[in-house]
Amino acid sequence: MQKAEYEVIPFPKSNLPAPSRSIEGLKPYDAVSSLDAISRLPAGLSPLKLDWNESVIPPSPRVVDEITKFLRNGHHINWYPDLGASKLRRTLAAYCGVDSEDIIVTNGSDDALSLICSSYLDPEDDVVVVWPTYGHFVIFVKGRGVEPRMAAPEDPFDNPTETIRRTIRQDTKLVYIASPNNPTGVVTPPEDVQALCREFPSTLFVVDEAYYEFCRVTSAWLVGKMPNLIVTRTFSKCLSMAGLRIGYLMASQEVISNLKRLYNPKSVNVLGQVGAAAALMDYEFISRYVNDCRAARSWLVQELAARGADVRNTQGNYILVRVKDPAGFCGRLESVGVFVRDRSFIEGFEGYVRITVGPLDYMKEFVRRIDMLLEKNPDLMAPWSIA
Ligand SMILES: Cc1ncc(COP(=O)(O)O)c(C=O)c1O
Repeated sequence: MQKAEYEVIPFPKSNLPAPSRSIEGLKPYDAVSSLDAISRLPAGLSPLKLDWNESVIPPSPRVVDEITKFLRNGHHINWYPDLGASKLRRTLAAYCGVDSEDIIVTNGSDDALSLICSSYLDPEDDVVVVWPTYGHFVIFVKGRGVEPRMAAPEDPFDNPTETIRRTIRQDTKLVYIASPNNPTGVVTPPEDVQALCREFPSTLFVVDEAYYEFCRVTSAWLVGKMPNLIVTRTFSKCLSMAGLRIGYLMASQEVISNLKRLYNPKSVNVLGQVGAAAALMDYEFISRYVNDCRAARSWLVQELAARGADVRNTQGNYILVRVKDPAGFCGRLESVGVFVRDRSFIEGFEGYVRITVGPLDYMKEFVRRIDMLLEKNPDLMAPWSIA
């Protein structure tokens, strides 16, 4: 093809429009992905990707089968998806025990959290976040021009309910509780969620249950009974579909109708919708994965403790170790193809590294590589101590 020749007129030195005032102080979200490092690993060294709490195995074979069948009809790609994922919502209703009208399906649960913040928050609002927690929620809050107040229990592994009670004000608009919390693994009992909802009826409580399947404790049964409760969940963890970006939220009709004002009903891609419905139909696969991870979690905690680590079990698909040199620990693991997540930069969480847990075979391989490293570096897991 012949290259057209255009005269490039220099762009004038001008003032580009400023972004919204609400994001003025925000730095770009610096997501640290190990995928590049994984692609550079030498042939023969299989990666152990234990950094983002994804499932370590592919989804149920039914997911791939249904997506493949679906793709045989070419039109299924050039048409927009089932708006509002109505079919998937019906399957989810049975899985969660809530009415399909009380569910909104989103592009990952991040999209649900973002939708909640965009729909409800103005710069003058008060927001309380249990701390430490999943950092991306804080960005969604800050993106609305709100500086959240943290409810940080003195011991981050304590039930946060009392701290929330002390931190919350009558005018607090929204409280965020991840349960199990990431990274602490703490579960907030649904009875406490119910009590808070009743005590503060003009506050919205967002309970993020991204890791629900691994603990099976849920506040979903309160949806509809507590009109100020929103529960969010994801297909990215136990259901092995992080790459397809499917999440959902459950809430009362009043909240749902407010969220629908901004919700984009075509934001959830067709393959994700088809795959998610198929994943939910394979309950045996889900429950086997959960049981395998739970068994491996206890095994791993024991094995690491036996090697001198300060290790903590959680109710999610991850455990924590507290080491003297978190960066060195993570770096050495990377040299043998193991990727874990340094969480030691979080205030009040110094020394902690989070390790995703998968089934036993996988964790045995992890321990084998730890043992290899320990031979040369006996201090690899030396416990963190206050200097
Ligand atoms: C507590 C919590 N909520 C939400 C998410 C985001 O999940 P999704 O992939 O559905 O956006 C994560 C991911 O790590 C998480 O840990």
